[in-house]
Amino acid sequence: MPWTMRPATADDHDQIRNLFREVFGYQRADEHDRWLSFENPDGQSIATVAEDRAQIVGCYTLLPTMLRLGKQNVLGAQSLDTMTHPDYRGQGMFTKLAIQTFELAGERGVKALYGYPNEASYPGFVRRLNWDHTGDIPRWTRVLKPSVLRTIPRPIGWSLDAAASLLVPKGDEGAFEGPPPPSKLAQLITKCFDQPDICRVARSVEWMNWRFSPASGRRYEWVTAEMDGELAAVAVWGIREDGHGVLTEIMGMDQPAVNIAVARAVRAAYRVGVPALHTVTNEPVAIRALKRARFFTRKPLPLIVRSMTHENLGGNIHNHSAWRVVAADIDTY
Ligand SMILES: CC(C)(COP(=O)(O)OP(=O)(O)OC[C@H]1O[C@@H](n2cnc3c(N)ncnc32)[C@H](O)[C@@H]1OP(=O)(O)O)[C@@H](O)C(=O)NCCC(=O)NCCS
Repeated sequence: MPWTMRPATADDHDQIRNLFREVFGYQRADEHDRWLSFENPDGQSIATVAEDRAQIVGCYTLLPTMLRLGKQNVLGAQSLDTMTHPDYRGQGMFTKLAIQTFELAGERGVKALYGYPNEASYPGFVRRLNWDHTGDIPRWTRVLKPSVLRTIPRPIGWSLDAAASLLVPKGDEGAFEGPPPPSKLAQLITKCFDQPDICRVARSVEWMNWRFSPASGRRYEWVTAEMDGELAAVAVWGIREDGHGVLTEIMGMDQPAVNIAVARAVRAAYRVGVPALHTVTNEPVAIRALKRARFFTRKPLPLIVRSMTHENLGGNIHNHSAWRVVAADIDTY
C-alpha cells in the first residue's frame, strides 16, 4: 500500500521520536521534545507525517517563531527535523510533506520561513521547494580543554590544557542567578532590537524564559553585564547532549558590555569543565567579543528563507546582509 500524508497531532509524539532515533541515530530527552513542540509561546509545532500501515515513516516540522523584520513583528517559522525513513527515500516524500506543511503554516498566519539545512536537505529546499539561500552564518568554537579533543595525543593535550587555562579571561563573576528581572530584560530587548531594515528572530521576556527553560534539558545559565546600575548585556550558555558547551544567546547595548558578558560565559563554562564552547552568529558586535575571547570560526551554516506572502514585510528576508543571527535562533543550540 502506498504511503499517505496527514497533519501530525500530539498523539504522534512517540512515533515521531522513534522515527527521529531511526533517522538521526540518537534520541533527545522526551522532556526536551515536549518543550520544543508544545510549550513554545509562539505556537505549537506545525507538522505533517507520512504513514504506511499505521507506521509514521516521514515527518516535516515547522516551529513557529516571531520574527522582527525592520520595526515590524511578523509570525515566521523555523524549519527543522526533516526526516524520511531510509526505506522511503527518493520518492519525493520530503518535498510533498513540506508543501503540505507550508499550507498548514499559511493557515496559521505564518508569513516567512527560515532554516539551516544540511547537505541532504539543501537540494530539496532550494531546487524543489522555492527556498532562497541568502548566504552563510559563521560558526564559532572556543576550545577550553584541548586534551578532550580527539585529534590531540593525550600528553600533548594535558600540557595544552595547562596553557589554555592561562587564556581563560580573568575577572569577577558578575550577576549569575538565573534570568535578570523581567523589566530590565524587556528594556534591554527594546534597546537592542529597535533597528530599521534588520531581519532577525524576535526576542521577548516570555520567549527567552521558554527558550532557556530547564525543560529544554540543556542546563542553560545566564550571565549578565551591568553598566551604571543598568542591565547592559546578557549571554546564555548551556550544555548539549554530547557534553560540549553552547553559547546560545549574546545580546547587549554596546561593545564593552557584550565583551564582558561573553568573557563571563567563557569563564563559567571553563569552571564547569566543558571541553569547548560552540556558537553561531553573524552579529558584528558579538563577533568582535568572540574574537577577543579567542573563539575561532568553523564551517559556516547556510541560511535559507522562503516567503509565504505577497505582502511587503518590514525587512527584506532575501537580503542576506539584513540578517542578524544568533545561536538561540537555531533549535540545536
Ligand atoms: C533529507 C531527506 C529528508 C530527504 O528525503 P526524501 O524523502 O528522500 O527527499 P525527496 O525524495 O523529496 O527528494 C528531494 C530532493 O532532495 C534530493 N536529495 C534527497 N536526499 C539527498 C541526499 N542525501 N543528498 C543530496 N540530495 C538529496 C533528491 O535528489 C531530490 O532532488 P531532485 O528531485 O532534484 O533529485 C532524507 O534523506 C533524510 O531523512 N535524511 C536524513 C535526515 C536529515 O539529514 N535531515 C535533514 C536535516 S536538516
